[in-house]
Amino acid sequence: MSKKFLGILLATAMVAGTLVGCGSTAPATTDAAPAAAAEEAAPAAEEAAPAAANGQKVGVAMPTKDLQRWNQDGANMEAELKAAGYEVDLQYASNDVQQQVSQIENMINGGCSVLVIASIDGDSLGTVLASAKEKNIPVIAYDRLIMNTDAVSYYATFDNYMVGTKQGEYIRDQLDLDNAAGPFNIELVTGDPGDNNAKFFFNGAMDVLNPYIESGKLVVKSGQTKFDECATAEWSSANAQSRAENILSSYYADGTNLDAWMCSNDSTAQGIVAALDANYSGTWPIITGQDCDIVSVKNMIAGKQSMSIFKDTRTLASQVVKMVGQILAGETVEVNDTTTYDNGTGVIPSYLCEPVFADINNYKELLLDSGYYTEDQLQ
Ligand code: BGC
Repeated sequence: MSKKFLGILLATAMVAGTLVGCGSTAPATTDAAPAAAAEEAAPAAEEAAPAAANGQKVGVAMPTKDLQRWNQDGANMEAELKAAGYEVDLQYASNDVQQQVSQIENMINGGCSVLVIASIDGDSLGTVLASAKEKNIPVIAYDRLIMNTDAVSYYATFDNYMVGTKQGEYIRDQLDLDNAAGPFNIELVTGDPGDNNAKFFFNGAMDVLNPYIESGKLVVKSGQTKFDECATAEWSSANAQSRAENILSSYYADGTNLDAWMCSNDSTAQGIVAALDANYSGTWPIITGQDCDIVSVKNMIAGKQSMSIFKDTRTLASQVVKMVGQILAGETVEVNDTTTYDNGTGVIPSYLCEPVFADINNYKELLLDSGYYTEDQLQ
């Protein structure tokens, strides 16, 4: 990643602005300087983690620096935790499961009091987390649920199923599926099979779209409608692009029009846009996304991606810092969902933040007015 990009991320990630969806809010500031912003964030974080911080160390394990959102999540978490008086061990694992396992081992052996983990593969942390449990180190699953281990104490995320339903509903409404004659052609792409979120996104969208596929109003020319057929290893744009190229050359090269491509997130949407740019000459399809990555917001402005889902990473970080404080103070930990997320050992008490619909009509209000991005970043 370029220094410039990193600088932009650090600057924007730490700006506490209007927060969407979660209970905890930080005061707004327009100052993008990291140090100043971290200080600005302090009051909210101190409120969240009263006397408990006391210099204790919190381990924060993020999956990769390759995708914009995890850089923002990591930077937000680090700034908020430090402002609240914690020491922070923040690690990124290049989407390499073994690397993440050894980073977590180091956190456990290095004296971390709480672990906050956005897993690469939700099923691969059982062994290392058993040793966290042995040492009574609480674990918060961050954004992605960690599966099949009883070492996970809490889960904080956005409402993943709702993300998918918003994407499906957008396609339904834009194509006016309840009234228009159709049929319309659609293709589908979702995320990494090792990420528990991906199935929630996909199922949310498909629960809206399936009735129209079954009635024939939506036609999937490739026939690829099952999760495994639509999955994208590591959520990589390149993997999504090469699958899209195959589909376009097999089913749309004869001039067949494509009306929509349901994409579970922005990195996959970017791969689809690249494939369409080079291999498709029909009317530009509706393309969904998630994260409001800078590249995708630019694509939205250029008319190449129709919508995205804004998951304000500042709100998730604030909520998790609050949870850390409550755990360490022995207080009741605030959750708002105790039914949805069973990780195979039972339901994990969760805090779900609300994802927000974003498109060309409201992106300025959501992303610029709230200080999430500057106008320059979207040029
Ligand atoms: C996150 C999405 C993100 C995807 C790829 C998912 O677990 O919830 O926001 O787009 O991972 O990083």
